[in-house]
This record gives sequence, C-alpha cells and structure tokens, in this order.
Amino acid sequence: MAILVVGGAGYIGSHAARVLRRHGYEVFIYDNLSTGYRFLADGFDLVVGDIADSDRLAPVMRRVEAVMHFAAFAYVGESVENPRKYFQNNVNAALNLLNTAQECGVRHFVFSSTCAVYGVPAKVPIDEATPREPVNPYGASKLFFEYALEAYSRAYGMNYASLRYFNAAGADESGDIGELHNPETHLIPLALAAATEGGLPLRIFGNDYPTPDGTCIRDYIHVNDLAEAHVLALKKLMADGDSFAVNLGTGTGYSVREVMMAVEQVTGNKAAYEVAPRRAGDPPALVADASRARDLLGWKATRNLQNIVATAWNWKQRQIAKQAEAAALPKN
Ligand code: UFG
Repeated sequence: MAILVVGGAGYIGSHAARVLRRHGYEVFIYDNLSTGYRFLADGFDLVVGDIADSDRLAPVMRRVEAVMHFAAFAYVGESVENPRKYFQNNVNAALNLLNTAQECGVRHFVFSSTCAVYGVPAKVPIDEATPREPVNPYGASKLFFEYALEAYSRAYGMNYASLRYFNAAGADESGDIGELHNPETHLIPLALAAATEGGLPLRIFGNDYPTPDGTCIRDYIHVNDLAEAHVLALKKLMADGDSFAVNLGTGTGYSVREVMMAVEQVTGNKAAYEVAPRRAGDPPALVADASRARDLLGWKATRNLQNIVATAWNWKQRQIAKQAEAAALPKN
C-alpha cells in the first residue's frame, strides 16, 4: 500500500517516512525543501514541489491511498509576527492539498495537529474534550485545518485523523536523521548546544512560573513514538473508517530545569544557562492526557526523557562530525 508523506524531508515527516517503510508501506515524499533537507529524504522517491501546486501534486497523489500531512510552518513566535505566512501556507495552500487529495480519490488523511489548538487550558493534563481556543495564529491555522477535515469527512466521506502533538523531540536511534531547524528555537537542541564546547548558554525563559521549580513544564514526546502513532492511526482509519482526533504525548511533564539536568546527565557536561524574561505566549504547563490514544489506537510512548535526550545528543554529535569532515576537505 502506498502513502504520500507531505513534508517528508522535514523533522517529523522524515521519521514517519522511515517508520512507515519499516512497517512495509510504499512511501512517496513530497516536499518543497523550504525548511526540509534533501538528505533527510535520502533513499525515498522524492517529488520536489509546493502544496499549493496541484499540477505537481496530482500525479503522485493518484498513486497513493493515504496522505500524511507534515508540511506546515510551526514557530509560534513567528506566527504572531508574520500571520500572513502562516495562514497562506498552513490554511490556504493546505486546503489546496486537501482538495487535490479529494479530487484524486484519496480516502484517508492523517494530519499533524498540535496541542496549540487548546491555547491556555483551564486544567492539566489536557484531554481531547478541552475547548479548542488557540491563542496564536499558528494554533489558529492548525485548528482551521481540523475544521476543514471535519467538514470534508462529513460531506465527502474522506476520513481523517487529527494528531495533536505535544513537544516532539529526540532523533532516530540510527543517528541518520534528526531535528534540524534554522533558526533553532526548541529547548532540547539548545540545551545540548549549551552543553557543547563553544555553545551559547541556554536562556531559560522565566523562572517565576507557578510550577514547582518556577520553570515551564512540557510533555516531551520522542519523534519515533509519534511516528509509530501515525502508523497505528492509519491502520485504524483503514480498518473501521471512523475519523478521530487524539493527543499524542506521554502524560508526564518535565520542567526546563529537569530537561537541563537530563542533558547534563546524558552528555556528562555542564550546560551553561542564564535566566531570561518569560517568552510571550508560553503557558506554564502543557501535559497530555494520553488515554484516548491508548484506548483507540493501543498506542503508548515507549521512550522517556532520557531516551529523547540521548538520541538527540547522538544525532548532534554525528552532525558535528560531518561538519568537521566537510571542513577538512580541500577547497578548489
Ligand atoms: N525554552 C527556554 N529556552 C529556550 C527555548 C525554550 O526556556 O531557549 C522553554 C520554553 O519557554 C518552553 C519550553 O522550553 O517552556 C519548550 O519550548 P520549545 O520552544 O522547545 O517548545 P514549545 O513548547 O514552545 O513549542 C512546542 C512546539 C510548537 C507548538 C507548541 C505548542 O514546538 O510547534 O509546542 O505550545 F506549537
């Protein structure tokens, strides 16, 4: 069975593509390489194109039974400063992707949604019945697409899974692929950089939150656990046809300080830091109630914070070694 992984040259999509292949699916990757990297799609059939381009999409779309859609911009802060970019890609172009899928007879659609659709929840852990009230354009753009999927499934019979990720982190155990953002804004890569010689100190955004140690709490979920959930979601859609939305998190939250401790333990190095002002729009704590994913999909995260940090560290060291190799090559 063939699956189109849209955004498969990006961080989460490239992990999903590999996990799908390990489960025996035929995988095509579609990516415009605006934030993705060609080498993350190495070994796959890659079509380079934009999700706004139906002519480019349609031929590959006709070859697959399901679409997994990872091709979105995902910086909360940037979405506040440049909402046009977010609504253009995450809504406008994404609707074109959905319409093309529908026209090409695709029956199953798996969507990368986010806990940002909940905004600042009244209670933690967050279950799926929590009102969806995003507080930034990124979350709003993702919620719009959830609504579109709900309407399309009612009207046209295409079924969908909206997978609401908590904090994706870590890297494939092989060390071949991992997180590579430019600029990098995420906690774990920045904390690892702070534990690396010559790295900048981590700026802890606020230590006066109403949490036990004053720093923000998040639910960090290993990218391959997320990828496994996509495969289970797809199987569920194919088996009984009902659409659904589920949280994907571990159900356990860690503070920024606890993440730093894990980084120091894994690397064996001290991670330098300074306390900086709070970052606008950061809720104090976001932790998933992951019971629906367990009940519906039989899915549970199998990797913990230690595994997340260790795989991210392995990936970072491989990247550093590759850069050193490239720098040592004679230039002509
Ligand atoms: N943090 C720091 N210093 C940094 C970077 C992050 O203290 O240099 C803190 C943040 O304040 C936050 C935590 O570390 O408390 C995690 O921050 P990330 O930037 O790694 O992740 P976010 O929780 O901001 O973002 C994630 C996803 C988004 C998604 C969002 C939903 O990456 O795509 O959760 O709230 F929208």
